[in-house]
Amino acid sequence: MSDKIKKNIEQLREQLNEHNYLYYVMDSPTISDAEYDALFDKLKKLEAKHPALVTPDSPTQRVGAKPLKSFAEVKHRVPMLSLENAFDDEDILAFDQRIHERLHTEKAIEYCCEPKMDGLAISIRYEDGHLMHAATRGDGETGEDVTDNIKTIKSVPLLLRGKPIPRVLEVRGEVYMSKKGFDELNDEALKKGQKIFANPRNAAAGSIRQLDPNIVAARPLTIFFYGVGEIEDGSLPDNHFAMLQRLKQWGLRISPLIKVAKGVEECLAFYQAIGKKRDKLPYEIDGVVYKVNQLSEQKKLGFVTRAPRWAVAHKFPAEEVNTVIEAVEFQVGRTGALTPVARLTPVHVRGVTVRNATLHNMDEIKRKDIHVGDTVIVRRAGDVIPEVVGVIVAKRPKAAKRIVLPKHCPVCHSHIEHVEGEAVARCTGGLICAAQRKESIKHFSSRRAMDVEGLGDKLVEQLVDAGLVSSIADIYQLTLDELIKLERMGEKSAQNLLDQIEKSKKTTLERFLYSLGIREVGEATAKQLARHFKTPQALEKASIESLQEVEDVGPVVAEHIANFFSEPHNLRVIDKMVKAGVNWPSVKVSEHQPLAGKTFVLTGTLSHMTRDEAKEILEKLGAKVSGSVSAKTSYVVVGEEAGSKLDKAKKLNVNIMNEAAFQRFLKQHS
Ligand code: IVH
Repeated sequence: MSDKIKKNIEQLREQLNEHNYLYYVMDSPTISDAEYDALFDKLKKLEAKHPALVTPDSPTQRVGAKPLKSFAEVKHRVPMLSLENAFDDEDILAFDQRIHERLHTEKAIEYCCEPKMDGLAISIRYEDGHLMHAATRGDGETGEDVTDNIKTIKSVPLLLRGKPIPRVLEVRGEVYMSKKGFDELNDEALKKGQKIFANPRNAAAGSIRQLDPNIVAARPLTIFFYGVGEIEDGSLPDNHFAMLQRLKQWGLRISPLIKVAKGVEECLAFYQAIGKKRDKLPYEIDGVVYKVNQLSEQKKLGFVTRAPRWAVAHKFPAEEVNTVIEAVEFQVGRTGALTPVARLTPVHVRGVTVRNATLHNMDEIKRKDIHVGDTVIVRRAGDVIPEVVGVIVAKRPKAAKRIVLPKHCPVCHSHIEHVEGEAVARCTGGLICAAQRKESIKHFSSRRAMDVEGLGDKLVEQLVDAGLVSSIADIYQLTLDELIKLERMGEKSAQNLLDQIEKSKKTTLERFLYSLGIREVGEATAKQLARHFKTPQALEKASIESLQEVEDVGPVVAEHIANFFSEPHNLRVIDKMVKAGVNWPSVKVSEHQPLAGKTFVLTGTLSHMTRDEAKEILEKLGAKVSGSVSAKTSYVVVGEEAGSKLDKAKKLNVNIMNEAAFQRFLKQHS
């Protein structure tokens, strides 16, 4: 009986190991994850019933080891060497030249070309095929015993496959984290309010240095093997490439990108080809490695201090570099958003000098704990503005300064508004701030705002650049003489523009309020505000509480409105416009509001009126018109070619009216 169980257990282990090999090493799984899990479960249950039959290299034994207090030191029997770095083709040609000289040959040298994985080097020792020890590189002589942690990595076999297997085989490789795994890990950490990792390499290295293997087990780590350290009672092929293939046969995962190059030119072509693929690879690489392929030649070449003479790392220009934050300044965007920008000690990243990096917003600064004076890791990705990935806290000087949000706009000195819970802080000087001027004027004159026909984006730019207009109120001070001096502006078009400006003076309070560009005050809110307060003076005096009595106005919008009207410069601009003749009929709210409390959604094309007209009528009758269908929608009015909103209305069982029904409905309620 027990023999049978033992056999059963062994079979299950063999099956699991085989599937692991097919999945991680051959990259061609033959069963689904669920099927694998089922086999795994079966084994786990059998082992639980028969604990005496558990072996250290059973697939179930990857996890469960106890947390350590510290890692033991491990002396490497064969030192773990490092690589000499080369940054350009010239360095590589010189390297190749040296090899030729040392080997006394003029024939093209054969190189094994590999991607240079950006992770951390690990040595793993197998005895009779069983994983016995794993260690970090450390200083190359002595590393740390991270056996329990390495065993949690599923692509690391606990037992080698195939025969013959050397009695001792110590293999070396790079443990890394995929870009996707890294992003997911950080997303998770963010959600839990934990520290995030600066890059996949730090994440991999940080994970392996965890004292609790159970935490490591949850980290998406994997490995590519690239070399052999010690070997006893076993033989290897005579070249590096074939040796790596042998590792693969033993179940050790190697990079599929490895190639043999005949001569240095082919190495450089490999570098170019991998460089092009780099962004699309699922993991980070920081260069490629060329290794003299023939092991006999490697032996002849030997090594110097800590690096072999037979290999070189051809690095990609760094994407991430360390530098110091010398100062932080705040830039005001076109919409008033304040962006903290780090002024850096200039550094080269991927061939470009980087002097500034965006810090995004105050939350980001807090999250990354960035101070002025900090040494930081800066990343440049493609053409995107460089950003600070993280701080090297150990290098923080005593005099490092906390970064504080300025109270006043660096451009116009208006107050800075930072609404609780919002990441972005903003300048409240929308109407006068030079940084926001053009945007606020474009908005002001737009069709749904003051509708100054002829005053388009280009002309606004021209007027501001010529210094004729610096706030929206200045539009009403423009003269014919000034206008005709502008390029491409004849007298006739200048007069036309003045006529249009004059015409725009006659407006409605809701349009006027909307045109001021108060944050988050769209047309609908402007309309509610006009109805509720009836004059700008009443709005000016309104408290945050009374603002919230208005439909659609929550605490955030109320604060935006109150902030806007508390700025004397904004009041001056309004006053100037009113003095220039901007006027509106006094607001009368119709008593007849039979549709109060009802919400409509208009979709498709109506034939008797535009959607805007329909909206106006409905709103006069007290209804609210919304852009999207929800369970709260009272009616959906469908014109020709209605699309997804109709579908949604049907799904939610909302009342649907076609245009004819809508016409009848309006008649009944007007
Ligand atoms: S060979 C004797 N091959 O790069 C040669 N190293 O800068 C020793 N690395 O410590 C290393 N990918 O962590 C080699 N395909 C590769 C590699 C690689 C990444 C790392 C490794 C090493 C470091 C040296």
